[in-house]
Amino acid sequence: MQVSRPFRTAIVPAAGMGTRFLPTTKTVPKELLPVVDTPGIEMVAAEAADAGASRLLIVTAPGKDAVVAHFEPQPELESTLAARGKEALAAKVRRAAELIEVATVTQDEPKGLGHAVGCAGDALAADEEAVAVLLPDDLVLPSGVLTRMAEVRARHGGSVLCAFDVPREQISAYGVFDVEDTADPDVKRVKDMVEKPPADKAPSTYATAGRYLLDREIFDALKRITPGAGGELQLTDAVALLIAEGHPVHVVVHRGGRHDLGNPAGYARAFVDFALAHPDYGPALHNWLAERLTWTGSGVRGA
Ligand code: G1P
Repeated sequence: MQVSRPFRTAIVPAAGMGTRFLPTTKTVPKELLPVVDTPGIEMVAAEAADAGASRLLIVTAPGKDAVVAHFEPQPELESTLAARGKEALAAKVRRAAELIEVATVTQDEPKGLGHAVGCAGDALAADEEAVAVLLPDDLVLPSGVLTRMAEVRARHGGSVLCAFDVPREQISAYGVFDVEDTADPDVKRVKDMVEKPPADKAPSTYATAGRYLLDREIFDALKRITPGAGGELQLTDAVALLIAEGHPVHVVVHRGGRHDLGNPAGYARAFVDFALAHPDYGPALHNWLAERLTWTGSGVRGA
């Protein structure tokens, strides 16, 4: 099914303090940490642009100006590189600025993901009926799930989220869906949604994975929720409120891969995975890793 321009704006909440990456995040926003050589937020911006978004609306916080600066042109650096014949590097410098238009809204206080997304509501044009939300901690692979989500919205209306089937022992880290089947095994209707339930109370093992295609009604719901899990205003709770009021919500179950850049362990995996796939660095890293895994003990040998 061809869906033309299902949304124009992609909201990227990037106001968090990145405490799990201290001390690096004293000065470097976690969204700019490189996956091999490219910041995670540039990868997410490329995904949004590929899915048809023309504007990235970054929810930022005081002190994180470098995130937006990454999407601004650097003409001096580009011309220096071009003058030295390093055209491929100049193209890498240009890419972020050329991908998508970037705008920002500021979240002054860390009151949760629901609050962060709510801060973006007034920045939408009156005719924008739906908006995408991409959490920059989550890399969903291969890219393209937003396009499938837009097809599902065209068919069923309402809002569409991306779900992953995760092991039950990990489920309490996520927003979790209570679902029923549709004719398509990869599309489920959502009956309810709960943020970070204990594993034995989780209604399923289908977890929210950082990709949302939301009807603009979400902004009204976000104004009506009260603090939930962790004392924060949760996006999950606003989606649950919409469902309770009869708004159709579906998930696309993504059967591909996912990386969580939000903590050092997940970030390390993502870095290694992308480095292994890199034509220049992959083969040597592969050989080194294979040897490294034969070492006994846990010390960093030769450091
Ligand atoms: C957020 C959402 C949660 C979702 C998760 C995906 O949680 O609140 O519903 O499952 O992202 O990564 P966080 O990881 O910020 O605690």
